[in-house]
Amino acid sequence: MSTYTDRLLKLVVMSDIHLLPKGEVKRGLDTAPRFEKAIQSVNELHSDADLCVFAGDITEQSNAGAYALFDEIRAGNELPQRVMLGNHDDRNDYLKHAENPMLDENRFVEGFDDIKGHRILMLDSSEPGRLRGGLCEQKLAWTAERLAEAKALGLKVILLLHHNPCALQMPVDAYRLAEPEKLLQVLHESGADIIQILAGHCHITSAGSWGGYPCATIAGNQHNVEPFLRGRTGQQDSFAAPAQYAVIMSDGINCAVHFQSYVNESTIMDPELFPQKVDQKFEIVD
Ligand SMILES: [Fe+2]
Ligand SMILES: [Fe+2]
Repeated sequence: MSTYTDRLLKLVVMSDIHLLPKGEVKRGLDTAPRFEKAIQSVNELHSDADLCVFAGDITEQSNAGAYALFDEIRAGNELPQRVMLGNHDDRNDYLKHAENPMLDENRFVEGFDDIKGHRILMLDSSEPGRLRGGLCEQKLAWTAERLAEAKALGLKVILLLHHNPCALQMPVDAYRLAEPEKLLQVLHESGADIIQILAGHCHITSAGSWGGYPCATIAGNQHNVEPFLRGRTGQQDSFAAPAQYAVIMSDGINCAVHFQSYVNESTIMDPELFPQKVDQKFEIVD
């Protein structure tokens, strides 16, 4: 008979890796050694995980050299891996480079893994050239089909996507998932047992719910931002740390989302490095 640990899903999710070609650094923050630390951390602490997912913004500028560096560094980890895309990635660039990409029948970089009673559903919210990603009708239809299967199979669903669908009441909401209500409708209509949604993109760790579903975000591998909430003006501070990935553990009833830091020293970065973070506009709702 299997033990409880054998039945317990352990899922590692990293996001916003933002690699540049080897040797290039942005804002004094070198994402390559940080990503190496992340891989080292997973190897040391979570080598028993079932899957490691990279949830988009793999590169900063979608260059071939950065994708090559990504593959070189992640080769140091032996877990099964899945790669998703974010707004800093360009699907066409990635697919030119990728050896064995996760692809749906429409050649979007999305897919699923069924593990220990769960369906890990990974959506492609990237749209080449657009900061504000979205899910077109094809992607929504594909999502609805995968959710219907999960329901028929009695699987709990963990949904991963790059763009946060939930509003955080921060300026980042202005470029969160576009038309999130369309995805929400698909989720609600599916009747699937969606136990957790997790996104990256916003560079901040948060927990809460979206349309009734538990929804969390992770800070990732690049700079981390402070909670700069609706009504604030002036400069939003960015921090060099913590860099974090998520570890989800679920037995189907208890689903815990942990945030594992692998770079901890937290200093405020020079505000002049982030001129776009002065007097930002918030998402217009009314
Ligand atoms: Fe990002
Ligand atoms: Fe992003």
